[in-house]
Amino acid sequence: MTQDELKALVGRAALDFVPEGAIVGVGTGSTVNHFIDALAGIRQRIAGAVSSSEASSARLRAHGIPVLEAAAVQRLPVYIDGADEIDGSGCMIKGGGAALTREKIVADLAERFVCIADESKQVPVLGRFPLPVEVIPMAVAQLVRRFAALGGSATLREGVRTDNGLPILDVRGLSITDPPAMEAEVNQWPGVVTVGIFARHRASVCLLGTRDGVRRLDFASLPSAG
Ligand code: A5P
Repeated sequence: MTQDELKALVGRAALDFVPEGAIVGVGTGSTVNHFIDALAGIRQRIAGAVSSSEASSARLRAHGIPVLEAAAVQRLPVYIDGADEIDGSGCMIKGGGAALTREKIVADLAERFVCIADESKQVPVLGRFPLPVEVIPMAVAQLVRRFAALGGSATLREGVRTDNGLPILDVRGLSITDPPAMEAEVNQWPGVVTVGIFARHRASVCLLGTRDGVRRLDFASLPSAG
């Protein structure tokens, strides 16, 4: 199977996690696009979606699925999204598609995070994929220095602005052995809007697309996660 076929496989498998009548949290990316296309087949059985990007919202609407504002819901039963990397405890790097801030906001509304990914995304330690960080432009030079002090090389993603109109730094060369600690540390730096480490909002479940089919991984949540 090709990588795209593996993404389609887990996109369809995620339908099993969509409760009847639910408002569904929907992420962003090529794997989620397959999920959205599968969701269209059961659109009469859901109340709508809260989306993490303009791109996903457009795709949902094109399928006739109502898109609600995040402010219109207090809680979602499930958030379904892809990842750039996922480790053995369900911590992830996200933001390759520049949607990390809205992804974390929607994930924060959800009871559980179901990650859908092809097997190439599974890693022992996060950090080979460049870590995306959405930032305030005024802080860029100082943030580049802060990442350099950690051994990382941060560069602005050329020609990219997020749906919030902000730039992304991509940080190469990090080995993220303690994702909750690094997420907490970077989150405190002035000018950081969102760091693409999802440890506090780690996956509860990962549906991994493999040559042998869908492999389900279950993860314990962080004791301190709200
Ligand atoms: C979007 O900003 C990202 O967090 C995506 O979830 C991640 O990049 C996975 O994308 P693919 O499903 O396209 O690999």
